[in-house]
Amino acid sequence: MSENDYLIQTEGLTRTYKVGEREIYALRGIDLAIGRGQFVSMRGRSGSGKTTLLNIIGGLDRPTAGRVRIDGRDVSDLSDREWVRLRRQQIGFVFQSFSLMTSYSALENVDLMLRLAGMGHKERVKRSAEVLELVGLSKWADHRPYEMSGGQQQRVAIARAIATHPAIILADEPTGELDTATGRDILSLLRQIVDKQGATLLIATHDLTVDTFADSVYELQDGQLLSATHAG
Ligand SMILES: Nc1ncnc2c1ncn2[C@@H]1O[C@H](COP(=O)(O)OP(=O)(O)O)[C@@H](O)[C@H]1O
Ligand SMILES: [Mg+2]
Repeated sequence: MSENDYLIQTEGLTRTYKVGEREIYALRGIDLAIGRGQFVSMRGRSGSGKTTLLNIIGGLDRPTAGRVRIDGRDVSDLSDREWVRLRRQQIGFVFQSFSLMTSYSALENVDLMLRLAGMGHKERVKRSAEVLELVGLSKWADHRPYEMSGGQQQRVAIARAIATHPAIILADEPTGELDTATGRDILSLLRQIVDKQGATLLIATHDLTVDTFADSVYELQDGQLLSATHAG
């Protein structure tokens, strides 16, 4: 692949935290190049730097050193405002604890994201119904999060994350609060979404089942990339 074919690239990505007199290295020079339509697993123990890496790629955190390129564009120096725009257009997030609006129905949670992206009413109604169907929740559109199981709540979160057709989905421990079977269903749904929508998914996890769904598996240890395995 040529340089511009990569959707996500990082160069020497470093993130340190100062805690008192000590400098903690969360990331120590991460070089990554991820193509389009890939299901990528970022594996590593707790504290290895997975969340920090995802947050920097999604613009929720800033590197101490190094560069990030998204779709060939250097986004390392974007302002907070520019990041908000970029996220609304290009990046969907899925978190361990679902992070839904608790007083909103499933449909309203999805609709909110589309409204923020500036979509008109008619289109929103159509797209919300479409993504809820895609995640198998058409019948639950009017239910609120507390009326649903964990797996269903994560499906709503996934519907919300993909509603605007983002090129990138960042999922931080998406199966962390689910039992094994439900976690598997969620991974299989994410795999379908990558295949159907051509999105690139980056999952941070210590769940080894993710590997069977992934095109590439990267291993993080103490803020460094140890190894990469590519399927196929
Ligand atoms: N806000 C922070 N202040 C100080 N240290 C932090 C902070 N956030 C993360 N760290 C440290 O950075 C390292 C990587 O953390 P993190 O990215 O959350 O790892 P993971 O998601 O793999 O568990 C850990 O040593 C963690 O303690
Ligand atoms: Mg984490």
